[in-house]
Amino acid sequence: MSALPVKYKTYLTAFEGMLEAYCARLSCPRGLADAMRYSLLAGGKRLRPVLFLSALDAFGGEWERESELALALECIHTYSLIHDDLPAMDNDDLRRGKPSSHKQFGEGNAILAGDALLSEAFTLSVAAAKDEPHRRAAELLAHAAGAEGMVAGQFLDLACEHNENAGEEELCFIYENKTAQLIRAPLMMAAAIAGMNEAPMKEFGTALGVLFQMTDDILDVKGEGGKMGKTLGKDEREHKLTCVRVYGLSEAERRADALADRCREALSKADADMSFFLELVTYVRERDH
Ligand code: IPE
Ligand code: IPE
Ligand code: MG
Ligand code: MG
Ligand code: MG
Repeated sequence: MSALPVKYKTYLTAFEGMLEAYCARLSCPRGLADAMRYSLLAGGKRLRPVLFLSALDAFGGEWERESELALALECIHTYSLIHDDLPAMDNDDLRRGKPSSHKQFGEGNAILAGDALLSEAFTLSVAAAKDEPHRRAAELLAHAAGAEGMVAGQFLDLACEHNENAGEEELCFIYENKTAQLIRAPLMMAAAIAGMNEAPMKEFGTALGVLFQMTDDILDVKGEGGKMGKTLGKDEREHKLTCVRVYGLSEAERRADALADRCREALSKADADMSFFLELVTYVRERDH
């Protein structure tokens, strides 16, 4: 039987504890804190902090003590989802099985909750950056989130809506930036903190991140709304550039399988026990939410 669910739950439970403690000590105006907590505590797979904590564990680090950067990762991811759902972006009413932030609190407050979560990530990163390896980890996170990272991917994602000239090249840029940047960052951050080589984690994390977005796009077509907790069929309605639009569903599935193999190959180059990540590749490929 797969050891993945048990191990995943160990990191997930530890992270949920860190997040609850963090949410309890938010001391900004009540309405703002309510909106921040609403999105942070709405569930979600917590993939990015779990990748960070599990990679630290695999590299022999003291993973239970690294709450600040784990929280910073989830704050940035949650802000990206709040802004992604806004009417000016994907115009999505449902997130993590609940009304999106702007539906619950209004557009202005959703924008501010996102701004606040991103800024909180600075504060958390600075608090974490007590030595050179942690400073490097904070730098990796800031770079992955910003104008040469996730935001660049989101920019092109918007630019390619309704753009019939956009194709494979743009799709690769979107995948590698809007999603893979924040999936490889936790793996590279853990390597930096543990004094390991970042390069194999960059290669593996990029492939895993692209695979994650490919499966997100595939699930938008064939997933079950109840399990996904978000509106499905949206990509086609909004004329998004996705792997399904570029390759068709069955070729997209074939490419996702090939990419899962590339993930496994990349893992074989890492100098640590990567069994958790090997199982995670299969989970990401076969996931239903
Ligand atoms: C959703 O991310 C946005 C994408 C990159 C596809 P997740 O699927 O990790 O969302 P949560 O955190 O589990 O809600
Ligand atoms: C979002 O991609 C990636 C982010 C950086 C937020 P999508 O727009 O496909 O994510 P969902 O489907 O809304 O979760
Ligand atoms: Mg989007
Ligand atoms: Mg979206
Ligand atoms: Mg999607």
